[in-house]
Amino acid sequence: MLRVAVIGARGQLGSDLVSRLGAQAIPLGHADIDISEASSISLALDRDRPDVVINCAAYNFVDKAETERDQAMLTNRRGPGLLADYCREHDLKLVHVGTDYVYDGQTGDRPWTEADEPQPLSTYALSKYSGEQLVRAHCPRHFVVRTCGLYGRNAAHGKGNFVETMLRLGRERSELSIVSDQRCTPTATADLASAILDLMKTEAYGLYHATNSGDCSWFEFATEILRRAQLKTVVKPITTADYGARARRPSYSVLNCAKLERVLGWKMPSWREALANYLIDREQSKRH
Ligand SMILES: NC(=O)c1ccc[n+]([C@@H]2O[C@H](COP(=O)([O-])OP(=O)(O)OC[C@H]3O[C@@H](n4cnc5c(N)ncnc54)[C@H](OP(=O)(O)O)[C@@H]3O)[C@@H](O)[C@H]2O)c1
Repeated sequence: MLRVAVIGARGQLGSDLVSRLGAQAIPLGHADIDISEASSISLALDRDRPDVVINCAAYNFVDKAETERDQAMLTNRRGPGLLADYCREHDLKLVHVGTDYVYDGQTGDRPWTEADEPQPLSTYALSKYSGEQLVRAHCPRHFVVRTCGLYGRNAAHGKGNFVETMLRLGRERSELSIVSDQRCTPTATADLASAILDLMKTEAYGLYHATNSGDCSWFEFATEILRRAQLKTVVKPITTADYGARARRPSYSVLNCAKLERVLGWKMPSWREALANYLIDREQSKRH
């Protein structure tokens, strides 16, 4: 039986991976391993001796990273670099998760492919890009999987997610203003976990884009969340400039996932279907 260490096991993606892996999973939360310390990595992985390592741990505070550069770099650059060294030395497969924010939005509305050149616009994006570069350079048996706008059932343990925020604000307010000039593909961690677990079984190492299919603006996503939740909140479109976030974000970061689809032989569901499944699952687990 393949033994799979899931780092960041209490986060959104990590917890979905752990529940799907069942007895195969070696769940490692932040208390079990600190990826920014080589000694902590050796202690945990020498003890548990996995065949595959999946790194879901990250510093994910996009705006705060502009003032917490060192923290972002420690977790998003140094951490993956150390994991890559460990996995190379022990001949392990390493799955590492990257972000659509590595791109700058300037394709002219053509979904980005893995061959396109990243151009990170923020400290967070730069930290994530430099981490994935170390993984690709130092660990031959790597899968670097870039994804986008994750939402998963374990958000409560972490920092929430866009869907949960919209549901909460939708109940609290009669009107919301949401950015309409950034297009991407919000992705359910349930679907991403399935893709990663299938990909991990192959030897088709390399860089992949992995999101739900289709694309939308955050305004369209919010509108669909509130419609499905039958909330009557009015959603108003605003521009990125109106919103005024600290970190720059790409205006267009839709990812072309054809390479992943060729290797897996299946396509991730549309963002609308994924959202519907998430909301159904959320209602069902509230009843139990
Ligand atoms: N969320 C998104 O919208 C999004 C979009 C694109 C890509 N991604 C990428 O997808 C992956 C999974 O994201 P997610 O949303 O599932 O993440 P998440 O819910 O924020 O979980 C990340 C986990 O990593 C842990 N962690 C942080 N620093 C660590 C360290 N130094 N050592 C060990 N563990 C550490 C955190 O623990 P504590 O909370 O205890 O610190 C947390 O449980 C990440 O690589 C992320 O960058 C996410």
